[in-house]
Amino acid sequence: MSDFTEKNRQYFDKMATTYIDEFKEFVDANSREVLNRRAWISDTWTDTESGKGKVIKMLEYACGPGPISMALAPFLTKIVGMDVSDGMVSEFNRNAQEAGLGAKMTGVKADLLAETGSEELSAAEYNNFDLVVVSMALHHFETPELALVRLGERLKKGGALMVLDILAQGYHDHHHHHHHHDEHHGEHHDSTHQKLDFGEAEHTIGSHGFTLERIQQLYENAGLGLNFQSELLEHKMAFKIHEKLPKTLFLARGQRC
Ligand SMILES: C[S@@+](CC[C@H](N)C(=O)[O-])C[C@H]1O[C@@H](n2cnc3c(N)ncnc32)[C@H](O)[C@@H]1O
Repeated sequence: MSDFTEKNRQYFDKMATTYIDEFKEFVDANSREVLNRRAWISDTWTDTESGKGKVIKMLEYACGPGPISMALAPFLTKIVGMDVSDGMVSEFNRNAQEAGLGAKMTGVKADLLAETGSEELSAAEYNNFDLVVVSMALHHFETPELALVRLGERLKKGGALMVLDILAQGYHDHHHHHHHHDEHHGEHHDSTHQKLDFGEAEHTIGSHGFTLERIQQLYENAGLGLNFQSELLEHKMAFKIHEKLPKTLFLARGQRC
């Protein structure tokens, strides 16, 4: 595990048992938006023509205690949750058990950004997914490019990747206006962006949000650009430190070519 991933592990391990209650309103709004766009994200669900009667597998990477997985569970037959935090994985499994979803949902500790892949995770049950989702986590990764490549490899051909994350804010200093055309290159050209405030979580942040152009590039670079689409969400991230400057959220989807 890299030093950066280790910082994330420690940070999130501490909040594992309180996360869902503390961020309830936000987590509920995210789950609602994902559910509302289910047909837009993928056409393979237990209640659709292309999914009916089939095994439909989803991977939620950086799953936390699993709110998104639990929301989508009625429309899937198998869900694997992966997270670097043992505490989050325990919560994921506990929440699944309590909801009577223990047979369908399994959480495992995993770091797909590690240099060497784990033997255990090369098993069939951890591959060939119809759908992979990453919610509120891509900005915590040191290498989002690598993350999308590694996640793409676990999708079936034609399978879909959904990302829910924070939109990068445009830079408002007019003296620097001439830099604007560089905007979509993201973190490497951060001078063109207003730096979002993550307060005490700053040391866990790898990207200060993503422009929709950068997200599309990441999808295309990972061979996931088929039918790529993105949308801004109506609700914002507006708890704690974020109250000062609510953060705009986006959903993106694309399929493995
Ligand atoms: C803000 S929480 C999001 C949890 C959940 N997906 C949700 O939508 O509420 C971020 C999660 O990402 C996990 N995480 C951070 N870096 C990670 C990495 N490199 N690999 C896997 N999980 C990671 C953390 O442990 C934490 O559970």
